[in-house]
Amino acid sequence: MKIVEGKNIKRLKLVKLHKNIKCFAKFINMKKNSLIVSKQGTKINDLIFKELIKRGYSLEGNTRVWNIADSKLWYLTPEQAQAFLDLERSEGYQKEVIQKEIDLINKHIKEITEGIVKKPLNIIDLGCGDGKKAIIFIEQLKEKIKLRYCPIDISSYMVEKASNRIKNIYADEIVELKWNISDFENLENISLLLRQEEFTKNLNLLLGNTLGNFEINELLYEIRMSMTDGDMLLIGNGLDNSKIEEMLKSYNDEFNNQFLIKIIKQLGLNETDVEFGVRFNNSRVEIYYTLKNECKISFLDKSVIFNKGDQIIVAVSYKYNKDDFMSYLKMYFGDVRMFVSPDSSYALALCKK
Ligand SMILES: C[S@@+](CC[C@H](N)C(=O)[O-])C[C@H]1O[C@@H](n2cnc3c(N)ncnc32)[C@H](O)[C@@H]1O
Repeated sequence: MKIVEGKNIKRLKLVKLHKNIKCFAKFINMKKNSLIVSKQGTKINDLIFKELIKRGYSLEGNTRVWNIADSKLWYLTPEQAQAFLDLERSEGYQKEVIQKEIDLINKHIKEITEGIVKKPLNIIDLGCGDGKKAIIFIEQLKEKIKLRYCPIDISSYMVEKASNRIKNIYADEIVELKWNISDFENLENISLLLRQEEFTKNLNLLLGNTLGNFEINELLYEIRMSMTDGDMLLIGNGLDNSKIEEMLKSYNDEFNNQFLIKIIKQLGLNETDVEFGVRFNNSRVEIYYTLKNECKISFLDKSVIFNKGDQIIVAVSYKYNKDDFMSYLKMYFGDVRMFVSPDSSYALALCKK
């Protein structure tokens, strides 16, 4: 196996202001005895704190909603990344996401790969996680064409996991490896880097509900711009099949809490200060924490006071119905085929420019 050095061009650019902002956080310096003040010495993550300050809160009725849902904040530390991999192993996630997606890939692998031209191919695993799903594609293609596995992820922990997995399995075979630790915002540059040498064609994988964590137009645009004729994109995402309770069940889970509470803790709050919640709102699953008491957090010279009942949205996962999902994809890709799970709750979409 040939390993090519990857480039670490991670760009942790803070996201743009959310459209719904109505109010901004007020910085306060005064002391208030009734407040629970975050423990002195608690390590606050400046990126998460800045995101909170930047986005502020919006009012929904009388409730202040702080929306800091951004997948960039979920994998900042190895502990966070590992907590996601633990969540993936949980019974609910396995049943609702992993198995449905893997079953669909296995069932349609021939149709998915039949259009691939017989030239050296980059398998670009966008948001690779631990790389387990890429193996199905490598197994299907490795006897037919020369392959290079390219895990791309904002988390170095994930890139290492995926790279090691593929290195260990294909140690004696001719599957090359070229990794990149990067934000999806850099895809155009990365795809230029990857197209060098003989590997001029790309199969992009965007699996595991990753698209649902993003503003769909922004990410589809980024990916499309990184593709040339003959490249393919395979997306795996949950669908809204109108069974909201079932959909929420897989999110309302202690593993999910253990994954996302790490964001709350990096704001200097304690697990006991908040209550975990999940709801379906605005075509998306929202995962949020409700403040049980008034709380003050401080970082450098700034402080934020949360009121009792304030909500902090830490994650969203958009779910579209099949037709809406197809309409979005057709805005960016000329050729789209969709494969849907028997219960209509998960889709694989194969897109060509
Ligand atoms: C939901 S997981 C999916 C993992 C894997 N594809 C799977 O199917 O199991 C999303 C992955 O995307 C990565 N990720 C999240 N936001 C990202 C961003 N802005 N740029 C690059 N990678 C990102 C995460 O680190 C994580 O590995």
